[in-house]
Amino acid sequence: MLDVNTITVIGAGTMGSGIAITAAMAGIDVCQVDVSQEQLEQARGYHEKTLGRNVAKERMTQAQADATLARIGYATETCKAAESQFAIEAATENEAIKKKIFAGMVETYSNDCILATNTSSISIGSIAKSVGPAADRVIGMHFFNPVPVMKLVEVIKCEATSRETLDQTMALGKAMGKTPIAANDHPGFVSNRVLMPMINEAFHAWNDGVADPESIDGIMKLGCAFPMGPLRLADLIGLDVCRDIMLVLHNGLGHPDKYKPCDKLVELVESGRLGNKTGWGVYDYREAAATA
Ligand code: 3HC
Repeated sequence: MLDVNTITVIGAGTMGSGIAITAAMAGIDVCQVDVSQEQLEQARGYHEKTLGRNVAKERMTQAQADATLARIGYATETCKAAESQFAIEAATENEAIKKKIFAGMVETYSNDCILATNTSSISIGSIAKSVGPAADRVIGMHFFNPVPVMKLVEVIKCEATSRETLDQTMALGKAMGKTPIAANDHPGFVSNRVLMPMINEAFHAWNDGVADPESIDGIMKLGCAFPMGPLRLADLIGLDVCRDIMLVLHNGLGHPDKYKPCDKLVELVESGRLGNKTGWGVYDYREAAATA
């Protein structure tokens, strides 16, 4: 099995920056790419904060933290293109944008570089189809937020994905300290097919007046041993992301009402309440953020 020592992560948002620091902490060199310099600076700030917390908790020395940060290169175009054994795309969840990025990945990286996407619901087969003869190197590598903490990577193979690509991806997941589990290329894969309807149902319960958000979350947290309730989790994921994944399930699975995004969820998204990232979603975080 190939020893992965260099990867590129395209997109420096919440997921991309989390993938980058997780790989660097596992001893892998990383090129973190984003078109926005500001986004790269935010990613670097997040990396410094995460490493600083590990030093404070005596999980690593300052020298180890410095060495980990030094493993990450930040670039608005490409870096480590020749060395990268994996290019993991973690950009905006938009199929046209992803396909454009994949076309660039085929041009930029070597003929044996594995082309992975961290999509949460876009068809891997459709992305693979768009890259023609490179399709056998395309695979889904779906990480979970917050990436440094969550143990799973859901690995999604499509018909075109080669056995070697799958094996290498499972090996990279393990090398990054995760438990990789493979699934097939269906709308929402496994994780979001099961999780999102539950979150959507929590919005229905709120909308129908079954209970207020705190009570819904409290019941699910204490009654089902969830680390956080479904509505607070929706805020962490992003309400727009939740709505969009429900739309993928709604459009892809063919039931007229089963996967329709709840009106309450849609209403909040349309009013700009997107969750943690806008300081207000189901819950209002603005006061806490101002006093933090
Ligand atoms: N980055 C790095 N580390 C983080 C972090 C972040 N963003 N957020 C929390 N952590 C770390 C903390 O530093 C702490 O680490 P330590 O114990 O080593 O100091 C540890 O996680 C626990 O954090 P806290 O003490 O602050 O808070 P909690 O104990 O409440 O845990 C949580 C926070 C880890 C977010 C926990 O509530 C949880 O696991 N929630 C569920 C998250 C979940 O389900 N994620 C999946 C979402 S679905 C998804 O991503 C797929 C997509 O396609 C939609």
